[in-house]
Amino acid sequence: MDGDAFDGVMRQLEPTMIVVTVASSNERAGCLVGFHGQCSIHPLRYAVWLSKANHTYRVALHADHLGVHFLSTKETELARLFGSESGDEVDKFSQCETELGPYGVPLLCACANTVLVRRTAMFEDGGDHVCFVTEPTDIVRHAEAKPLRLPQVEQLDPGHHSTERPEPPSHRVDS
Ligand SMILES: Cc1cc2nc3c(=O)[nH]c(=O)nc-3n(C[C@H](O)[C@H](O)[C@H](O)COP(=O)(O)O)c2cc1C
Repeated sequence: MDGDAFDGVMRQLEPTMIVVTVASSNERAGCLVGFHGQCSIHPLRYAVWLSKANHTYRVALHADHLGVHFLSTKETELARLFGSESGDEVDKFSQCETELGPYGVPLLCACANTVLVRRTAMFEDGGDHVCFVTEPTDIVRHAEAKPLRLPQVEQLDPGHHSTERPEPPSHRVDS
């Protein structure tokens, strides 16, 4: 398999970008996500894939609900903050306007389209991302907005590369 050619095919699709937020035991987390999409109509289901390297993944393992923020072209600074910084090192939520949403989920006030979802299942097949299958439960905000797409953010250096794993190893949920 030619990985570069596959990357080229995926890049042409210009995936839209979201920020997924979660909270558990007073710990807030959130990261930029390009792997996501609706995966059932009846019942309604939405899937997001979180990297095992990320602080957000570790917090999401203990959370029932997630905030899914669909970024618009105006939100490149939020994309940078949530895609290039890690909650392992900084408090991203002190650097942007947030509010406490239903189920304790932290919400990003700037986002025009935000949905709350409840986790129904998880799939892990040994890859570096884990699939969280969810049921949309609440529309927090809905407005017309031009979606932010991968070509506008692909220059960002991720806060964690997908091959990283937390140190010390005893803190790893899985490998
Ligand atoms: C363009 C782009 C797409 C990304 N897509 C994903 C993704 O689909 N899933 C994911 O878990 N992380 C993804 N990331 C990586 C995280 O957003 C990034 O490592 C973040 O800093 C992790 O923050 P955290 O450690 O606070 O969770 C992406 C990053 C970039 C720049």
